[in-house]
Amino acid sequence: MVKYLVKDIDEGVKLLRLDDDRTRFFEAAWHIPEGITYNAYLIDAPGGQILVDTWKATYSDLLMEALGEVTRPGRIKYVIVNHAEPDHTGSLPAVLGEAREAKVIVNAAGEKVLRAKYRLRNEVVHVEGTRSMDLLGEEMTFIHVPWVHWPETMFTYQGRTGTLYTCDVFGSFSIPPGHSVDPGDARYLRSAEKYLITVMGYYRKHVLSAIERIDSLGLRISRIAPSHGGVWEGDVREPLRLYRAWAGAEPRSRSVSMAYVSMYGSIEAAASRIFNELSSRGIGVSATAITDSEYPDLEEFLVDANDASAIVLATPTYDTGVHPRMKFLLELMREKFRGVEKPVAAIVSYGWGSNAARYVETVLRETGMKVLAVETFRESLEEGQASRVADLIAGAIG
Ligand SMILES: Cc1cc2nc3c(=O)[nH]c(=O)nc-3n(C[C@H](O)[C@H](O)[C@H](O)COP(=O)(O)O)c2cc1C
Ligand SMILES: [Fe+2]
Ligand SMILES: [Fe+2]
Repeated sequence: MVKYLVKDIDEGVKLLRLDDDRTRFFEAAWHIPEGITYNAYLIDAPGGQILVDTWKATYSDLLMEALGEVTRPGRIKYVIVNHAEPDHTGSLPAVLGEAREAKVIVNAAGEKVLRAKYRLRNEVVHVEGTRSMDLLGEEMTFIHVPWVHWPETMFTYQGRTGTLYTCDVFGSFSIPPGHSVDPGDARYLRSAEKYLITVMGYYRKHVLSAIERIDSLGLRISRIAPSHGGVWEGDVREPLRLYRAWAGAEPRSRSVSMAYVSMYGSIEAAASRIFNELSSRGIGVSATAITDSEYPDLEEFLVDANDASAIVLATPTYDTGVHPRMKFLLELMREKFRGVEKPVAAIVSYGWGSNAARYVETVLRETGMKVLAVETFRESLEEGQASRVADLIAGAIG
């Protein structure tokens, strides 16, 4: 059931959270049975109220209802737009429809989107680069961190409470039971990693730069308040460490993540032999099988692959090329594993002739991953192929 949560998270700071269990495929792409939240924040400053971000357009009426419980929307003097994407600005027209005198704080890149999409007419206060100002008696710092999703993305730091409002970064899928993150909740952390890879994987390097930028500013951050998922309270070194590790695809253990497609069992048999060869070398393996009886969520494979020390992909030839489902997976890898320097091996089977191996190799090289081998075979593995692949992987991951 879609519902909202209004919660005081600090003196004069309210979280307004929409719990969305209706969206099945975020961005029309990512399967989220765990749901998602959109978080806005209402700051009660000495001179008036400031709203940080809003919700998706679908929930405009609910946002107005939630705001109506805690304020008169006409009292909102500023709306800070950290990110112009419609999951955070869709309800902006509804808010500004009531808060007619409110000024919108945004950078030039964000303003362009808002004007084009919403025919924004309110006065705009431009913030570029890193800029501090007294806003209605609150000391606020706006930090442009481009490409932590879109070109305009920025963080807002509130000096009095030590809160860093980060919009998508440090966000997560899922609907946490309380307002804050439980750092021991493994399911939440996996969902957060899934969010980072699927939504922001293409911009990994920029996530790392944004974290470095935050470090370099020496802010006294005691809370990270993203616009999806839970709020990180207290010591924020842990979220900084986690998001850095996820964005950097740091291996979590000596392990291999394997994904394969098999229509009639040739690849399945090969995958199973490679699985055994790796296991016998003491390497943990997780396997994702795409067959005529299962099509698992590829998002889960992407998380496994992000955590692994090496990746194995295996596909049959189909209509002279790569099987369509592996083609899709390779496209995901090309986008979301850009610049990830992990070792990868590929296995391609065929019946009479194939261009698939060249295609696989081209895509994997484009990601920047370290291609250890692209082994091909006709219907059954040749003697020694499985152990060769396993040796190469063991050698590469040490
Ligand atoms: C629908 C279909 C299309 C195929 N297209 C090709 C092809 O274009 N070229 C080729 O060499 N083999 C082709 N093959 C043969 C498979 O690539 C080969 O049998 C492979 O080993 C099957 O692996 P699997 O048993 O794991 O599904 C095709 C097989 C099927 C079922
Ligand atoms: Fe976004
Ligand atoms: Fe978002």
